[in-house]
Amino acid sequence: MSEKKRPLLEELKKGPWPSFVKEMEKSAHNSKTAELLDLLERSYEDKTGHWKHGGIVGVTGYGGGVIGRYTDLPEEFPEVREFHTMRVNQPSGWYYTSDALRTLCDIWEKHGSGLTNMHGATGDAILLGTTTEHLQPCFNDLSEAGFDLGGSGSNMRTPSCCAGPARCQNACIDTLDLCHNLTNTFQDYLHRPSFPYKFKIKISGCANDCVASIARADLSIIGTWRDAIRIDQEAVKEYAAQGYDIQGLVVDKCPSQACTYNAETQEFTVDNPNCVRCMHCINKMPKALRIGKETGATILIGGKATIVQSAFLSWVIVPFMKLEKEDDYAELKDLIERIWEWWDENGKVRERVGELIYRKGMREFLKAVGLPPVPQMVKHPRANPYFFWWPDEIISSASGDAEAEAAAGAEVEK
Ligand code: HEM
Ligand code: HEM
Ligand code: SF4
Ligand code: SF4
Repeated sequence: MSEKKRPLLEELKKGPWPSFVKEMEKSAHNSKTAELLDLLERSYEDKTGHWKHGGIVGVTGYGGGVIGRYTDLPEEFPEVREFHTMRVNQPSGWYYTSDALRTLCDIWEKHGSGLTNMHGATGDAILLGTTTEHLQPCFNDLSEAGFDLGGSGSNMRTPSCCAGPARCQNACIDTLDLCHNLTNTFQDYLHRPSFPYKFKIKISGCANDCVASIARADLSIIGTWRDAIRIDQEAVKEYAAQGYDIQGLVVDKCPSQACTYNAETQEFTVDNPNCVRCMHCINKMPKALRIGKETGATILIGGKATIVQSAFLSWVIVPFMKLEKEDDYAELKDLIERIWEWWDENGKVRERVGELIYRKGMREFLKAVGLPPVPQMVKHPRANPYFFWWPDEIISSASGDAEAEAAAGAEVEK
């Protein structure tokens, strides 16, 4: 174990905040972690990071799940010469038994630095710091314990979902089952890089969007309902009796002015056709208001952080889809495959699907995947007054006039 003093890191242990240095020192009985701290001290001394992009490393049969990490000072810091990350596919909703966690940690003490940052933004359990020669044995131990690796690189990334029906009354869909189902169905895409770039699927049970799918997922699946918000008027009266400001805190904050409260009768009403299902009123009065009964999900596309283009929020493409367990989510899976096909054919290297839509236009995307344009897709009113047609639509409207049809056909073929 390293006996070096680390005066600069000592500074980071002072102050009222929780210190990551203190936390890392708890694992410093492991020589890799001890040297990681030494390397960090050195980085602060030199005022530069000492990591470099290395080669591709992995385990047999997999084209993802391991992120190669190397220091640029391998002679001085041999223990962190290789300090690879392993991504372990988390269970739906991150529900582990304490036993499963202990197993995971034991495997990591055996094969790695003992450090993890459970869980990364990817969703996976992230095991930080091992060497190339430990990768396969570590993977074997993980497999035997029932764990699989997650996605990385140009793979489908490990799908993730919110706590869902297991712990939340707002769940409009069984996020846990759907996440598990998609992970299994698309195993091949998870383990083998076959896309222009990463593809993330994140599933929230309602518009509270606890996994922030709208900001982070190429495909966001967000639970919603299409009938009416359920109202318990007696419970509304109880809120009123407690002096709760229903008008100010609930009604006045409704984004579509779809709910009303009558202070005299103490009755709360919702204009359901105009309600945008934002969850605000339900969050504010959970004892009185509940999601509707006819539930499904809104499907959105294109959320991502910056790299090629700026950060995008995802964009509605299907306002309401019933997600049926009985038919194994066939409609959704079918749509996902059509999206992948178009992206695969048209995307440039490292171009996310949202960026491709930005480059080619939403109407190209909709036509290619066979989705009808609907008002819910409108982000803001258009500034351009021109209306666009597809040439083949002009042909169909001219049908009956053979000459015009032939002329239009000739036009299309140009
Ligand atoms: C060199 C001469 C001209 C130039 C460079 C020019 C340029 C333009 C441009 C750039 C626009 C905006 C197009 C858009 O928003 O997409 C426009 C619109 C328009 N121009 Fe011109 N223009 C010229 C001459 C004329 C003349 C002589 C007239 C009428 C006698 C005219 C009538 C209009 C009208 C009515 C619009 C609005 C069209 C619409 O909103 O649909 N322009 N012009
Ligand atoms: C009684 C006579 C007229 C009436 C009632 C009338 C009415 C209108 C109306 C309702 C619009 C649509 C405005 C909008 O969509 O915002 C319009 C647009 C237009 N009118 Fe007229 N108009 C008259 C005469 C004329 C004349 C004499 C001209 C040209 C010499 C003209 C040129 C235009 C043009 C170019 C536009 C399109 C403007 C744009 O695209 O922004 N109008 N008119
Ligand atoms: S997204 Fe909705 S259903 Fe899921 S945990 Fe959050 S509030 Fe509950
Ligand atoms: S869910 Fe949102 S839009 Fe609908 S009534 Fe409640 S506050 Fe208004």
